[in-house]
Amino acid sequence: MKYLNLHSGDSMPMLGLGTWKSEPGVVTEAVSEALELGYRHFDCAAIYGNESEIGVALNAALKSGQVNRNELFITSKLWNNSHRESQVQPALEKTLQDLQLDYLDLYLIHWPVAVKEGVGIASTADEFLSLEEVPLTETWQAMQCCADQGLVRNIGVSNFSASKLALLMDQCRIKPAVNQIEGHPLLRQQDLKDYCDANGIVITAYSPLGSGDRDARMKAEDEPRLMEIEAVQAIARQRDVSPAQVLIAWAVNRGTVVIPKSVNPQRMAQNLAAAELQLSAAEMQQLDQLDRHYRYVTGKFFELPGGPYTAAGLWDE
Ligand code: A2P
Repeated sequence: MKYLNLHSGDSMPMLGLGTWKSEPGVVTEAVSEALELGYRHFDCAAIYGNESEIGVALNAALKSGQVNRNELFITSKLWNNSHRESQVQPALEKTLQDLQLDYLDLYLIHWPVAVKEGVGIASTADEFLSLEEVPLTETWQAMQCCADQGLVRNIGVSNFSASKLALLMDQCRIKPAVNQIEGHPLLRQQDLKDYCDANGIVITAYSPLGSGDRDARMKAEDEPRLMEIEAVQAIARQRDVSPAQVLIAWAVNRGTVVIPKSVNPQRMAQNLAAAELQLSAAEMQQLDQLDRHYRYVTGKFFELPGGPYTAAGLWDE
């Protein structure tokens, strides 16, 4: 496995198992299978609704001695309904309880979006809280306190633009270690990557395979299928690997962490092996040229009439 160094000195495996959309009924077995295959990095979040099922698999592996805790890298994310200073630590403690862990390796602010206590996905404008009401810097203060107490070894963010990162960087005591953002050849976000590189912030790329299994309500009718793009398929044929493996290798070769989701043992094995695949400069260039700033996860679900958030404001573009 390849690793990237975080500014704390910890190293983060460049490939992890994504668990967004992994159904609670199958995720325990999938995580056990992944551990067996050699996965050591798991990307979780409270809002995925499956942390207690993941915890069962992690606990079984730790208890049996199959893995030591310090060999695992476990990420989770603070949901939008717990951004206030007093809410952050209790939310983290709930996640730790569900995952059956004493600490996380990485805890992220899931979105630069706040909603009222108890709300999952806001369905009316009045369920949101604006960033003026609950500033991201307030949430970050509380994240830092969680790190001080050893509940989490590294703290970071997700879905943050460079300007929102800069806001935190200006005021923080502990720099964000990671920004987890959507990343694949159709959405390179090179400017944001350059900003993160310059500031020692590691990027984790989510939806590296195009997240074809997400809810139909989150999908555009004519969205491109990443794994069917001819340039991706041509490289896959030449190398005798799968299109998914080409996409994963692209992410690792450009120096990002990547978290393909699968609950299928064959595909999990394939994805893990892809992290070792070295692409040539010419292949990387062919894939880079596919960029058209296309988002599968548009953020439009935060855009409600009369509400404080728009997709454009979310991404600052
Ligand atoms: P499954 O879980 O049945 O393997 P993303 O990581 O971009 O969110 O994409 C996840 C989707 O890609 C899921 O539908 C997952 O299905 C599928 N997937 C994961 N790995 C592979 C692979 N190696 N080949 C084809 N599809 C894959």
